[in-house]
Amino acid sequence: MYNKILKGKKGIIFGALDENSIAWKVSERVWEEGGDIVLTNTPVALRMGNIDHLASKIDCPVIPADATSLNDLEELVESAVSHFGGKLDFILHSIGMSVNVRKGKEYTDLNYEWMKKGWDISAVTFHKLMQVLYKKDSMNEWGSIIALTYIAAQRTFPNYNDMADNKAYLESIARSFGYFMGKDKNVRVNTISQSPTITTAGQGVKGLEGFLKYAQKTSPLGNASAKECADYVVMMFSDYTKKVTLQNLFHDGGFSSVGVSQEIIDFLEKK
Ligand SMILES: NC(=O)c1ccc[n+]([C@@H]2O[C@H](COP(=O)([O-])OP(=O)(O)OC[C@H]3O[C@@H](n4cnc5c(N)ncnc54)[C@H](O)[C@@H]3O)[C@@H](O)[C@H]2O)c1
Repeated sequence: MYNKILKGKKGIIFGALDENSIAWKVSERVWEEGGDIVLTNTPVALRMGNIDHLASKIDCPVIPADATSLNDLEELVESAVSHFGGKLDFILHSIGMSVNVRKGKEYTDLNYEWMKKGWDISAVTFHKLMQVLYKKDSMNEWGSIIALTYIAAQRTFPNYNDMADNKAYLESIARSFGYFMGKDKNVRVNTISQSPTITTAGQGVKGLEGFLKYAQKTSPLGNASAKECADYVVMMFSDYTKKVTLQNLFHDGGFSSVGVSQEIIDFLEKK
């Protein structure tokens, strides 16, 4: 049933916390397609989540790392390269957290220490990770690096709070570092902008239910599930997308191109 389009490819997947995590679904699909994985998450997430179930299912090691720590990232990349006995072909950055969102702070009343922490976790970790990979020359040529993002980077979604700014920064890092990854290493870097999805991070956003319904009614193909996102990531890790780089790729059932759908008009005109 599977085509094993990732056979022989090796990489690191960040951010699988529980069965709902997008990174969890990506790990399962990458494994089904023949890829070899090292899973990683923070020590706290490893205790709170159930990543060990995933690791035993897909028979791969779990290496703890706080992605805000350069030291942890260096040790992680070194351990992964030594585990595989060679360089890496793919990386998934599936990391996001806003302390302000978590603690219910409004965008008009942000705590700037919390803002910095969320920015470091959600955006700067992508730079730190690529800088470690770049300096250690740990990626194989034609490797693929992906980070997950959301359309609040381009359009206003009030409840997305400071995560919107973090995502804009993340997408910019993808383009800026992607240039050097392409020129110097022949490695591609892209972000995938996913539909709203029910996960631990997603549920932290106030009014997620409303987001989901609105996006569902707006998107001609409906919202993309985490599993469908995983399929897209598999394609982006495969050799079928070797010259796609520096892109923010919308994986949202067409949501990003629609002004208003007939369903929304009908709903609003209902007496
Ligand atoms: N759920 C959605 O609606 C949605 C939509 C578009 C994009 N995304 C993005 O997808 C990505 C994955 O989120 P998810 O929805 O699967 O939720 P999730 O909560 O399952 O995943 C977020 C992960 O980030 C990890 N993390 C937090 N701080 C970290 C740190 N310091 N170092 C390493 N890892 C850390 C968490 O442990 C967790 O595993 C995020 O970037 C999120 O913004 C989510």
